[in-house]
Amino acid sequence: VVHVMHNGEAIGTGPNISEAQILSQIEVLNQDYMGLNTDISSVPSHFSNVLGNPQIEFCLAQFDPEGNPTNGINRVSMGGSGFWTDSRKPGTIWNRSNYLNMWVAPIQGGTLGYATFPGSSANSDGVVIDYRYFGKKPHNSHNSKFDLGRTATHEVGHWLGLEHTFQGGCSGTNANNCSTAGDRICDTPPTSSANYGCSLTINRNTCTETPVDQFDMWMNYMDYMDDACLFMFTKGQVDVMLGVLSTSRASILSSPACEAVNLFSYSGKVVDAKTNEGVPNARVLFQGVVAHEITTDGIGNFTSMNFREGTYSIYAGKWGYMTTEFSASAFIDETTGGYTIPIEPGYYYDDFIMDFGWTVSGNATTGMWERGIPIGTVYNGLPCNPGADMPGDFGSACYITGNGGGSAGNDDVDDGEVILYSPLFDLTTYNEPYISYFRWFCNDGGQGNPDDELIITLSNGTEIVDLEVIDANAPDNQQWVFKNIRVKEFITPSATMQFIAKTSDLPGTGHLVEAALDVFSVIDSLPNPVGIPTIPEQAEFSIYPNPASSLLYLDVRVADELSGQIFITDLSGKQLHHLTVEKNEVIQLDVSKYSAGVYFVKLLTRSGTKTKKFITLQQ
Ligand code: ARG
Ligand code: ZN
Ligand code: CA
Repeated sequence: VVHVMHNGEAIGTGPNISEAQILSQIEVLNQDYMGLNTDISSVPSHFSNVLGNPQIEFCLAQFDPEGNPTNGINRVSMGGSGFWTDSRKPGTIWNRSNYLNMWVAPIQGGTLGYATFPGSSANSDGVVIDYRYFGKKPHNSHNSKFDLGRTATHEVGHWLGLEHTFQGGCSGTNANNCSTAGDRICDTPPTSSANYGCSLTINRNTCTETPVDQFDMWMNYMDYMDDACLFMFTKGQVDVMLGVLSTSRASILSSPACEAVNLFSYSGKVVDAKTNEGVPNARVLFQGVVAHEITTDGIGNFTSMNFREGTYSIYAGKWGYMTTEFSASAFIDETTGGYTIPIEPGYYYDDFIMDFGWTVSGNATTGMWERGIPIGTVYNGLPCNPGADMPGDFGSACYITGNGGGSAGNDDVDDGEVILYSPLFDLTTYNEPYISYFRWFCNDGGQGNPDDELIITLSNGTEIVDLEVIDANAPDNQQWVFKNIRVKEFITPSATMQFIAKTSDLPGTGHLVEAALDVFSVIDSLPNPVGIPTIPEQAEFSIYPNPASSLLYLDVRVADELSGQIFITDLSGKQLHHLTVEKNEVIQLDVSKYSAGVYFVKLLTRSGTKTKKFITLQQ
């Protein structure tokens, strides 16, 4: 995908480059990476034995990450703000597993382009190329030295793992050591430093290798010559690039982004499992080669106009209903009939796989709450932004404060507050409602002691109470922590309840502040007149031996649910260990590292919790 980063110019003017200029660049890439460039005939005979052909083909994306048709050109206005900065990447990037992101932009300071290597972070991966050197003449005529599109050829080489032919220089007196000299690829001769211009002789030689000295390969795409003097890759370079495409970038080869596929309109219905009536405003998610998330109409019907043939997991849900996985793997094409998906009423449950209408507000400059798959950040060896949602729920998303990834100070909460609000919920028919959720808080770094808080409150429409105030000194920060709140201990239940999570960072102090929320649910723990589900006793398991000195066994085979979470806490409530379990397993837990004393082990499944006490003995 080519992201054209412009400042509001008309298409074809300045940075808002024409489609023809973009197509000319794709053509150059396809020539250079398929050995079809006409100047390949200029490769000197002394390099003909190492000349490589990557046979890599490029296409402009045919589908965007939502599965909608696109021409692979994404024009983005930077709002007349002048030059490009990398801070534009996280907000514009398309999933790098399926797309090579190429940002074309006005770069300040004369850089032609730059790239990320394999292994770089998911929100900044791709190449950036100045619009004046993207594509080839006559579409690009800013500088005759760089008007053949070789800047992109070079930068994509980096993206596929290649270094400059001069990267390691001649490596001192040891230029014959091809693991340190040059680009550390043995069939590209090392070069002492970058070569420039376009008038070097083919027997230029800046490094002396033994036993066989070779001329510089200044015509290699990974040197710095003018475009007209770059025209080859070596076989060793091809091996490196194909190696990257079979490992860390393997998903690019199976990307659905360029496939010609059939699009059709697909419809179905979501019904209330109790009444069989259509459920309006329910959400349906088809998760597969692409994701289709759709809302039902006033009578529970849904239609996706651009549905893509393929295999999908199908989920449905709504605030006030239990989310359901209707199918784990369903092949759908235009002959597939519409599914009717029942969803169970009487639950407030959200694991954030779909959008059930939580809202956000705040005045912080970065780090607003967002729903997404968390991208971990690390501070002092510990996670600050979580690297994953709670395992065991549907999907991989949660709510997070800023999800830009990169270093921990990027996209955390800065200079203000960020607030997350649940949709309203009605607890008037509940006898003994409990609210449970997982929360995460990180508050570290910056000047002075971190002094920020994550405040979780509950409102009934007339009053609002704190459920938890978590600060930097909380014993269980920087991990997922399960909370189960007996609502009546805090507030009188009403028909207009709202759950609110707020965190903030004071201006100027620069502390890291990250919070997250996952698997929100409300359950009635006592039988109630309207049949709202209560916590059943099936969250059952056994532990032995108790007391335990070295190994404690957790047998979850009697649990009804397929998977659950195990938490080990000490007497103060500090969470010491957390793991995911599957039904039908017996877990061995090494408790020898716990000092002698009393501990709790809690099993949490979608349908309830159970806590047991165990004792460890001194060995
Ligand atoms: N990153 C290099 C630069 O900005 C790109 C060199 C590309 N060379 C070229 N002839 N197009 O200087
Ligand atoms: Zn380079
Ligand atoms: Ca040499």
